[in-house]
Amino acid sequence: MFHKIPQAMQTQMRRLEQIDVRDRRDGTPRLKRLRQIPPQTGKFLALLAANAPKGQIVEIGASAGYSTLWLSLAAMDMGRKIVTFELLPEKAEMARETFKAAQVETVVELVEGDALDYLAKYQEIAFCFLDAEKKVYQACYDAVVPNMVSGGFLIADNAINHRDTLQPMIEQSLHDQSVDTMIAPIGKGLLICRKI
Ligand SMILES: C[S@@+](CC[C@H](N)C(=O)[O-])C[C@H]1O[C@@H](n2cnc3c(N)ncnc32)[C@H](O)[C@@H]1O
Repeated sequence: MFHKIPQAMQTQMRRLEQIDVRDRRDGTPRLKRLRQIPPQTGKFLALLAANAPKGQIVEIGASAGYSTLWLSLAAMDMGRKIVTFELLPEKAEMARETFKAAQVETVVELVEGDALDYLAKYQEIAFCFLDAEKKVYQACYDAVVPNMVSGGFLIADNAINHRDTLQPMIEQSLHDQSVDTMIAPIGKGLLICRKI
């Protein structure tokens, strides 16, 4: 996968990486910032997603589509598709432009809206990347984990840099008998749950 990232996708990855770095330095207000995962997290997600069992590949929180591009690599490798949710219209528009320019429109379905309004529709989730506002993590966990197929993954970002805020959900997942869970120090910290 990593040796054959299509040129159009590489161009979009570099573009978004530059905007993300600039956002963090120039005082862009939080809601306008892309708040992307770092490339290492993207690679890790792609590696895991490329081995996802049969079922849906879902992302909650697309922003401008950077993490979605990494997941697209895995989806293309397996001949599968992804659905990604983005709440804010201006971010959804940026993501749409990213997917068009990266030529992944046939791989990615972008749903503009609150993921919580749609998640019940997905009954066989093989892989879910959760990277939204921290206040919805618990509700997303509760909506996703019961509908994950055996061997499927839920990966939630910010498990270390927002550990205090996410602690109730992290505690729940560590005691949840339906998943094996750990926190990996990759990027901002990934909560990794594998459905038993
Ligand atoms: C941290 S950013 C996502 C970054 C993106 N995953 C990446 O690495 O490129 C969080 C995004 O989640 C979106 N979001 C927050 N709550 C949401 C919800 N309930 N449903 C869908 N998107 C949501 C926000 O608008 C924001 O763009």
